[in-house]
Amino acid sequence: MRSLKVADATGGQDFSTWALTRQARIEQVLDQNLPSANIAPQQLHSAMRYSALAGGKRVRALLCYAAAEFCETHNIATDAAAAAVELIHAYSLVHDDMPCMDDDNLRRGKPSCHKQYDDATALLVGDALQSLAFEILSQPDLCLQAGEQISMLNILAKASGSTGMAGGQAIDLSAVGKPLTQTELETMHHLKTGALIQAAALLGAINGSSEQVAAVRNYALNIGLAFQVIDDILDVEAVTSTLGKTAGKDASSNKPTYVTLLGLKHAKQHAAQLYENAIAALAPFGDNARRLRELANFITQRSF
Ligand code: IPE
Ligand code: IPE
Ligand code: MG
Ligand code: MG
Ligand code: MG
Repeated sequence: MRSLKVADATGGQDFSTWALTRQARIEQVLDQNLPSANIAPQQLHSAMRYSALAGGKRVRALLCYAAAEFCETHNIATDAAAAAVELIHAYSLVHDDMPCMDDDNLRRGKPSCHKQYDDATALLVGDALQSLAFEILSQPDLCLQAGEQISMLNILAKASGSTGMAGGQAIDLSAVGKPLTQTELETMHHLKTGALIQAAALLGAINGSSEQVAAVRNYALNIGLAFQVIDDILDVEAVTSTLGKTAGKDASSNKPTYVTLLGLKHAKQHAAQLYENAIAALAPFGDNARRLRELANFITQRSF
């Protein structure tokens, strides 16, 4: 897995080490929770593992862990929440790549799920990864109060559905070839990408104080939007081999993006402003919010 390199200015465990440890951890949690490819139906299980394991930056899991550490509450439920969000994200990517959506052949440096398997399998992989996410987060042995666990399920459900990620994806598809206003584009990006990123952070912060939760909510709102602005920029500036997905796809598919709306320079300035907003939300919390700050830095400085 490519490592997340960010300079460490403050001493202690550097961000790369922190992130690599948690990437390895989430990989293990996912591996343990995904059904073995030897269990019937073998092809579906094999395709689920193909799509969910050994790939991706795991930014959503890292946000969940960082928010939990910020609230000093990292526990077994944090692993479950981080895994659940990564599974919803993996499902969204499998469907996003299908011919009826973005029609993309490459994902995480490998053939997309529907290319490696077939369309029907990719459809079912998305369905099953989504169900597995909720199965993991609804397990009875996560040492949570029932009300707390229901709140977590509710956060993830809302972020995934028609007023979250799936709704944003619907807007994305209906916007092909159409110029959107900045407000419309912002809404689309908040929903298709921001909602799940915010959910990841809020799930990590589930036991936080009201001040901590409010800060995490505001931080994640800004960094979630910044994440997709940078994705739009990378689609233009990066190359396929670095991205692990087809570069230039937004332009060739006639998608409205922050680059088509604002141009590269202003899109970058906008991402920088969103980063500043995210950092400002953490201002009262000093070093306790360090990992969240470092993640905001990674998200806006990343090259893939
Ligand atoms: C890609 O997300 C899709 C978007 C929401 C922009 P990531 O860039 O987090 O993809 P992986 O998980 O690292 O592959
Ligand atoms: C996808 O946005 C957001 C999702 C909910 C999957 P994109 O279509 O821009 O994501 P990539 O660029 O294919 O990863
Ligand atoms: Mg898309
Ligand atoms: Mg896409
Ligand atoms: Mg994109």
